[in-house]
Amino acid sequence: MENEEAFVEKINEAIDDFKVDMDRLKLMAAAFRFDMNPLKQDYLTSLEHFKSYANLPTGQEKGEFIAVDLGGTNLRVYLIELLGEGEYEILPKIAEPLKVDGKYDYTHGSAEDFFDFIADRIGMVAAAEKEYRLGLTFSFPVEMKSLDSAILQRWTKEFNVEGVVGKDVMELLREALHRKGLDRVKPTAVLNDTTSALLAAAYEQTHTYIGAIYATGFNIAAYDKAASEAPMIINLEAGGFSKLTPNHWDMMLDKASVSPGAQRMEKMVSGRYMGELYSLVAASLMGKEKPYNVDSRQLTEIMETPKESLCVLFEKLMGISVSEEEAAALKKLAVAIAKRSARLAGAALAGAFWHIDSFLHEEKQYIAIDGSVYNKMPGIREEVTRALYEILGEDAARVEAVPVGPGTILGAAIAAGMH
Ligand code: BGC
Repeated sequence: MENEEAFVEKINEAIDDFKVDMDRLKLMAAAFRFDMNPLKQDYLTSLEHFKSYANLPTGQEKGEFIAVDLGGTNLRVYLIELLGEGEYEILPKIAEPLKVDGKYDYTHGSAEDFFDFIADRIGMVAAAEKEYRLGLTFSFPVEMKSLDSAILQRWTKEFNVEGVVGKDVMELLREALHRKGLDRVKPTAVLNDTTSALLAAAYEQTHTYIGAIYATGFNIAAYDKAASEAPMIINLEAGGFSKLTPNHWDMMLDKASVSPGAQRMEKMVSGRYMGELYSLVAASLMGKEKPYNVDSRQLTEIMETPKESLCVLFEKLMGISVSEEEAAALKKLAVAIAKRSARLAGAALAGAFWHIDSFLHEEKQYIAIDGSVYNKMPGIREEVTRALYEILGEDAARVEAVPVGPGTILGAAIAAGMH
């Protein structure tokens, strides 16, 4: 850069834009708790309250099921045998990306191609002649009328497959299975990935009432006794929470997204957007018109690379030549974006804990958290925990995050086992 000092100074100013102090965190947690109250008028809450029609598992669900997990990045199809007592066995499995640059992209295109892609993979794990019940973890906002019917409200995570919004995704899957001669596979349960995370963790660990996904997307579901006529798990679509304080970078990102105004929290927190946010800030500080193409995996790489190798990394990832000082500041920017993400996620979880705690009054609660950002991005877990302690004080000792075994795919099998 022409003027190293001025550039580093500008980066440091941008880093300040991503700081969230304790007071703001507490306000956000309180607002999240308020929005979880189902008695509030729709216009006062920025959370949705989608019913799941799934109760907590007993741990005794048993049988062999096909489990399909449609995440933001990958499709997984497993044959899972539930053995009861919280035990399970994973039989044949397939995992494939939904998009391979230059080859195919199922995140866009037609509904038929999309569901055929899924049905083909189901055909690969289903033994010939055998009948199966199938559970589908579907990581998008759906309105449900029963455990086996889910109407897609809108796509998120920059997906845009035509002909699915407003339709029952289970029907579309059944039709695709029919086209592939797989009528012996019966889709009987569909659930959001947060519900799935909650079921999977609760299968093994009682007193788990909150499920969160912190990955390509961000969301929380809670087993809410106060939520509706019958207690059940409620998908909050927490990525749409909007009582936040976005900075001008967030606003720029939102404006350029396929869904301006929507998913405000997700755009400040999730893996789909963190790299993009970073690219946008870095490009703007360098006076470039177009953002770089850094994704959150590369953001992790930046955070994990030692000082002496950073300049080479920035050259490789962004084609820029920077001094050691500048590279160190650019790394700090990556850390600041990730840290803010974790603090906001922690605040939402604290709000959810408060809400559940207000009527369950239990000694200890477990929160199931799954997802690539939470599991793989450096420092995220620690920052989430720190935020919980800042907000909840000593009550934070009553909350513990638990892993989700093989992930949200297990929840799909459990839900199929409930039906
Ligand atoms: C979707 C949620 C999902 C979350 C995590 C969001 O974009 O709207 O339904 O739970 O991503 O995958």
